[in-house]
Amino acid sequence: MRVTGTGHASMRIDTAAGSILCDPWVNPAYFASWFPFPDNSLLDWETLGRVDYLYVSHLHRDHFDAKHLREFVSKDATVLLPEFPTSEMEDELRALGFTKFLRAPNEQVVELDGGLKIMIQALTSPTDGPIGDSSLWVEYDGVRLLNQNDARPTDLTVFAELGHVHAHLLQFSGAIWYPMVYELPQAAKTAFGKQKRERQFDRTWRYIDDLKADHVFPIAGPPCFLDDALWQFNDIHGDEGNIFPDQSVFLSEYAKVGGTNGIVLLPGSVAEVTTSGATTTHPQPVKEFFANKRAHLEEMRERKRGVIEAEKASWRHPEIDVLAGMKRRIEPLLDESIYLAKGVGGPVRFDLVGYDGESVESIVVDFPGKQVRPYADEKVRYRFRTERALIEHLLFIDEVDWVNSLFLSCRFSAARIGQYNEFVYAFFKCLSTERLQYAEGWYDEHERAVDAEDITLGDWVVQRRCPHLKADLTRFGIVEGDQLTCQLHGWKFDLPSGRCLTSVGHKIRAARTQTP
Ligand code: FES
Repeated sequence: MRVTGTGHASMRIDTAAGSILCDPWVNPAYFASWFPFPDNSLLDWETLGRVDYLYVSHLHRDHFDAKHLREFVSKDATVLLPEFPTSEMEDELRALGFTKFLRAPNEQVVELDGGLKIMIQALTSPTDGPIGDSSLWVEYDGVRLLNQNDARPTDLTVFAELGHVHAHLLQFSGAIWYPMVYELPQAAKTAFGKQKRERQFDRTWRYIDDLKADHVFPIAGPPCFLDDALWQFNDIHGDEGNIFPDQSVFLSEYAKVGGTNGIVLLPGSVAEVTTSGATTTHPQPVKEFFANKRAHLEEMRERKRGVIEAEKASWRHPEIDVLAGMKRRIEPLLDESIYLAKGVGGPVRFDLVGYDGESVESIVVDFPGKQVRPYADEKVRYRFRTERALIEHLLFIDEVDWVNSLFLSCRFSAARIGQYNEFVYAFFKCLSTERLQYAEGWYDEHERAVDAEDITLGDWVVQRRCPHLKADLTRFGIVEGDQLTCQLHGWKFDLPSGRCLTSVGHKIRAARTQTP
């Protein structure tokens, strides 16, 4: 099996029974904030795009690049489609000209022509990607590969049970706006960033250890930030709180925990994977590439300046009345929302900075009051500050997912009182009836599900499944004193009170072992 690195989470898998192109991403994403790193725009995409199968793991724009899919991927390719709860991915691909679809039943092996086997695991909670993320398992001629990209299943048992895996490709770096955008003192930001960076690596080691594949390929990040306003997010400034470590940092951190089977793919690197080993060729020496990372980024920044400026010029729509537009889009959804609105539990304020860089219009999305209105000098749970032009653009293009656009752009700052509230972000990624209804139904089902099984961890009896996304705490739970940490996403719980210390709600059931 041949695996060609095509940048970020993207790869092309070639076997004698057919080829699969995964997650090709080339054009900037999220308001021109993210670019693939290392640069993959100079690859021979005409050739790479002539494939038998296309697999797009989910709709995040660093995986689903509509422009590139339209221009460079053969419309004869059969799309291997994860079993997602909504039809959005299929609809978007059809709109781009794809007509052949294979809907892979969740977690079931499908045999394609010529003995090529695939299995897709779809994750479908409202917090998984843009309502859905997935992983692809491939087997041909005894060689097995798992392209986990940035999916976060609770464990990898379903793949491990299919036999020893030879190539495991997974995420290790950050892909979020936390903590950089929060209005916090620099020292606090660094401390939170450092914790986050460590947690990302811990999670990666756990997945690697789950599967024990012959070879581990760090993929799906980090992106690079080429706009001057975001340049500081690149991990080239010696900031230990930077959440975007690159593949060379992965290798050195992996070595510290005894990992010796890591393989970095640059765009254009080719790994031939067999049951007995892997040989890899690179377009240039990997060490040398990362030693010159800053120069690579600076050169890319100059080359892409025009692209960023052109995008920026398209965001302003002065004819749009933002308050009226937000009312029209959001108020009907507030009316429909029970769980998400209750979960947010308070007003969320948007401070929108005008074209002059000074004037500010403050708008409140009032979840309890179910309305969008001007800010009335009240206390708010969350406050976001961004350019008014960005919201104008979201309204102009009728964007239903403000996480997959505004928030991932990192072109905002945020402040909050109290804990992280996942419902705020879940709501703003569900700005359509279809998505909102799905998310409401999901929370309803999970609130009702009585998770009766308990386990013993240290001196505590706790519910077996994590109140966040149901990770098995026999594997992911660590108790230190009176605190439990679920290592899947790092959420913490105070055991005597059951209170979740990371997010609003999500109480855990817990009692000391000696308590009858
Ligand atoms: S499942 Fe996310 S922290 Fe436990």
